Amino acid sequence: MTIQIITIDGPSGSGKGTLAAKLAEHYQFHLLDSGAIYRLLGFSLYKKALLDALNEENTLQQCEEIAKNLDIKFVTEINSTTQIFLDGENVTETIRTEQVGEFASKVAAIPVLRTALFERQRAFAQAPGLVADGRDMATSIFPEAQAKIYLTASAESRATRRVKQLQAMGLDVKINDILSNIQARDKRDMERTVAPLKPAQDAYIIDSSELNIDEVFKLMTDFIDARLAN
Ligand code: DC
Repeated sequence: MTIQIITIDGPSGSGKGTLAAKLAEHYQFHLLDSGAIYRLLGFSLYKKALLDALNEENTLQQCEEIAKNLDIKFVTEINSTTQIFLDGENVTETIRTEQVGEFASKVAAIPVLRTALFERQRAFAQAPGLVADGRDMATSIFPEAQAKIYLTASAESRATRRVKQLQAMGLDVKINDILSNIQARDKRDMERTVAPLKPAQDAYIIDSSELNIDEVFKLMTDFIDARLAN
């Protein structure tokens, strides 16, 4: 039986995470949140005080070993939320902070660390199918995917959504700080030499700036249903 793969790539804050989870539930597929894997690696290297010396050769080798042996677990609960564990500790909320996002973006720019995480991501492809959420799911990790979607939105609308999320978590944040973080992260993700953020040639591009979740979900399922039927 062919394993069906749906990839959702795009910049942070485009709504990818929410939509990927909704799609996985709808199709009863597995879910890969690849950003969480980069966040876990970033957080692990930060805790080991290795993050600031990433570009030194000895440190890099050590980091590569850590990346290959990262002890992580994703546990999906009955209500479809996922709890994430690093070295046995529940870090679900910790890894969602802006600070850990910055750590993730740093490690994600380093080719050997991306390679070290390649097989781990491929291993998520299991029957009946997978929804893979990230930046390079279609271009590097699952080029064979049946349905490739690139979800984007203007930096301003992504910043507004992010502020709402963070405020709901009880954090006091300023839109301008979030917007400049988003712009800096976009630049780093798009300009890095290895697996830069860009749509695959055969990706369906959706701009969610003016759409709500249900509208994006409908566009996605119409596209996916047609692709999986072929
Ligand atoms: O989607 P996210 O915000 O959780 O991702 C965190 C960082 O990891 C982001 O800066 C980009 C990077 N990333 C990546 O380079 N490749 C992926 N497949 C997923 C995330």
